[in-house]
Amino acid sequence: MLYNTKKPRFILGTRDLKLKKEEFDAVIVGAGLSGLRAALELSTKWKVAVISKVHPVRSHSGAAQGGINAALGNTEEGKDDSPEKHAYDTIYGSDFLADQDAAYFMCKEAPKIVVELESMGAPFSRLKSGLIAQRPFGGAGFPRTCYAGDRTGHSLLNTMYEQCIREGVKFFDEHFLIDLIKVEGRITGILTIDIAIGRLVVFRTPYVVLATGGFGRIYKRSTNAIINTGDGVGAAFRAGVPMQDCEFVQFHPTTLYGSNILITEGARGEGGLLFNKNHERFMSKVAPSAEELAPRDIVARAIEREVREGRGFEGGYVHLDLTHLGAERIKERLPGIREICIYFAGLDPIEEPIPVQPAQHYSMGGIASKIDGDFCETPLQGLYAIGETSCISVHGANRLGGNSLLETAVFGRFVAKMLLEKGKQVILESDDLRKAEIQIIEETELLFSQWHSNQGKTPAVIREEMGDILDSKVGVYRKRKELEDAYKSIIKLQEEFNEVHIETKKRQFNYGLIRTLELRNMLDIGEVTTYAALWRKESRGAHYSLDYTRRNDKDFLVHSLVFRTKDGLKLETKSVKTGMFEIKERVY
Ligand code: FUM
Repeated sequence: MLYNTKKPRFILGTRDLKLKKEEFDAVIVGAGLSGLRAALELSTKWKVAVISKVHPVRSHSGAAQGGINAALGNTEEGKDDSPEKHAYDTIYGSDFLADQDAAYFMCKEAPKIVVELESMGAPFSRLKSGLIAQRPFGGAGFPRTCYAGDRTGHSLLNTMYEQCIREGVKFFDEHFLIDLIKVEGRITGILTIDIAIGRLVVFRTPYVVLATGGFGRIYKRSTNAIINTGDGVGAAFRAGVPMQDCEFVQFHPTTLYGSNILITEGARGEGGLLFNKNHERFMSKVAPSAEELAPRDIVARAIEREVREGRGFEGGYVHLDLTHLGAERIKERLPGIREICIYFAGLDPIEEPIPVQPAQHYSMGGIASKIDGDFCETPLQGLYAIGETSCISVHGANRLGGNSLLETAVFGRFVAKMLLEKGKQVILESDDLRKAEIQIIEETELLFSQWHSNQGKTPAVIREEMGDILDSKVGVYRKRKELEDAYKSIIKLQEEFNEVHIETKKRQFNYGLIRTLELRNMLDIGEVTTYAALWRKESRGAHYSLDYTRRNDKDFLVHSLVFRTKDGLKLETKSVKTGMFEIKERVY
């Protein structure tokens, strides 16, 4: 069916484009591991669409290197592992901000999820016994992380994609989510743009599952793919859904100096050691028991401190040394890392240490979603969020390595099972519905034409400035004054964004338009991240304040929820679900 908007505002070059409408029982936005897992389950019974701004196997889950955690107990050192221990390590690592019921649920499901992936054909590395191999990752102290060399995410994503193709999942690749459509507090669909031809497409559906990944690209120094711009989070926020715990930004300790490509924690799991320029193993002092395998927040801070106090190498890095592991082990367990070092740093880690520095890696915060009642539902009826897009919250103030792939598969599977149990719903044609759809289309066309006629900065310039601000003032160590400056600067960028200018008017493959839509989301997320960081006057997990260096459970053992109101941002708190494990100081 074609829409006939009464006042079409087509811009130059788009007169021939038609609006298109699609109807599905459920729409999943994002084709990473969580979106694909949900689609696979739902497609067995329902008519489901997966919307992705890239081809599915280019989704960022494919960049996860080191592994997926599950208490399988396959190795001698890990034979007494259990889901309870996994849950405790996750909650302890989260600095007790994770909701304990959600974390326990995820860890209890982990062994089944890994076996399920194995049965789908995921090519896990093996022990001599033939069992799935496991390596130690931060926060466990023994091997719990199942892996496929150092390309675990790539292997799992491709396996899941093949399963989806087999099941006949319907994909809409290169479709970008513009906005959510809602009527009377209930989701009724989404508006997207088909990037290749520039046509707006309305997907009408009673259930939308957002699985658009993280938003690390609000920072410049990040391990994230360029596509990680928080499109689902931004759209939900504009629709009135709060962002939760966005002050908690994970900085991966070991990213390649210069390009910030991820150097997997698996490298330390295999025995890699960190050295400062004086050839001191500084982690032995910082975390005498866990050393290099302390959680990421602790290792990232330790590296940053070495650099700040003059013990780093010139330019701001330390060494990750793998040379003692030997050529055979590096080639077998870390072949991707070796290639990355050769191609991007011109060095072979068999022969030389790797220069590494912390960089943004993961967003613990995201769209507030809940575990009780409807799994993963957000405060907007019919809207669900899973994976890094969501904050359910299983990672609290700091995620353990290997728990991200796990979260995607567990909640992708369970959101779908829950929806199938809930049953299909129908969005009835109504005046209100048509009005809501036409309004969002008209607002979008108006926005596009304003962006073309404005004379302000280009999106690339604003994005660059935003990244610089966040890198320099909302980083591993935070200071109140710097956060205040960052907040003011982001507000100024928001104002400049109102005048953003896109030169190219053609709709087909207009990446200026797509980058601007992304930037709209990113500026909101950057603003919320800084706002919540200013509010949290304590140090917990990945949020370390030089003004408030202690954890303060009395006042801040709570989740932050930030809403957009007509008077600006508003912050509310939500209690953390505790009760299963005793709350303690973290010592590693
Ligand atoms: O270091 C890594 O391989 C990253 C894993 C993760 O973020 O879970």
